[in-house]
Amino acid sequence: PATDSLAVWTEHDVKETLPVRAASSHKGSHGTGLLIAGSRDMPGAALLAGLGAMRSGIGKLVIDTDPEAIPVICPTLPEATYRRRDWDKTAAGSADLGQYRAIAAGPGIEPTQESERAFQQLITSPLPLVLDAGALLKRSYNKRTAPTILTPHLGEFARLTDRTATDVQENRPHYARMLAGELEATIVLKGHETIIAFPDGESWQNPTGNSALAKGGTGDTLTGMLLGMLCCHDNWKHAVLNAVFLHGACADAWTAEYSAHTLLAHELTNRLPEVWRRFE
Ligand code: APR
Ligand code: MG
Repeated sequence: PATDSLAVWTEHDVKETLPVRAASSHKGSHGTGLLIAGSRDMPGAALLAGLGAMRSGIGKLVIDTDPEAIPVICPTLPEATYRRRDWDKTAAGSADLGQYRAIAAGPGIEPTQESERAFQQLITSPLPLVLDAGALLKRSYNKRTAPTILTPHLGEFARLTDRTATDVQENRPHYARMLAGELEATIVLKGHETIIAFPDGESWQNPTGNSALAKGGTGDTLTGMLLGMLCCHDNWKHAVLNAVFLHGACADAWTAEYSAHTLLAHELTNRLPEVWRRFE
């Protein structure tokens, strides 16, 4: 059916589910996230995702990236620590992921045989895993014991399902639910009115965001925000829904003041402090 209606994740839901930062907490309470992102030619993707993660409640962030990307990230995000292409070791099966609460991978990563071996290794881990951009390949997640979250835009979704973008566009809720069920993964089908389909059939539509987001880099920011939210929420579904909602709300805060033509992706996370405050 072309008019599959969906529940909307509202401002009220966000207010009910955002985590409280306990007075007695320390950085360990809020979790360490691992971000695998960025490359020589796309260092900015790691920076954008890193900013998203560190503005989203996380305790500590480790960025596994190309050594050449580190001096690009560090001046803007001195709070993160680094692994220098440690995911090559991950590919060899020797990585120690024990210190992490959640992982996000893919922004600014060129898909190669090597990266695929690394992602396969991450898939065997018992940690919540966000896969985006260069990590979005056809594979199965049904052996995983922790949540898997895939964040395709329309083109990536079409590629994953061997359909045309037009076909998917005409019935996004239907296809998102179908893929979530098939892969046993959560599908965040991005775009105007992003769809979130969980593998158990529960699905939602996000009401926030606008065309200011239609610009390179904003998806990388979302991937980082998902990682941060997974680290600080107890309920992983709420983490996913709130990340998508607040990402869009930052863009809405931008267009309340400025033209939608002018947003830069790295400015999104500058809005997050005031936007988040409105919902707690
Ligand atoms: N209204 C609301 N939200 C929108 C709109 C719109 N009209 N257009 C885009 N968005 C939001 C999406 O929902 C998503 O959160 O902006 C974000 C865009 O994410 P991506 O499409 O992944 O864009 P981008 O950040 O440029 O991706 C960077 O990764 O996916 C690859 O090939 C892609 O090279 C690109 C890179
Ligand atoms: Mg993207």
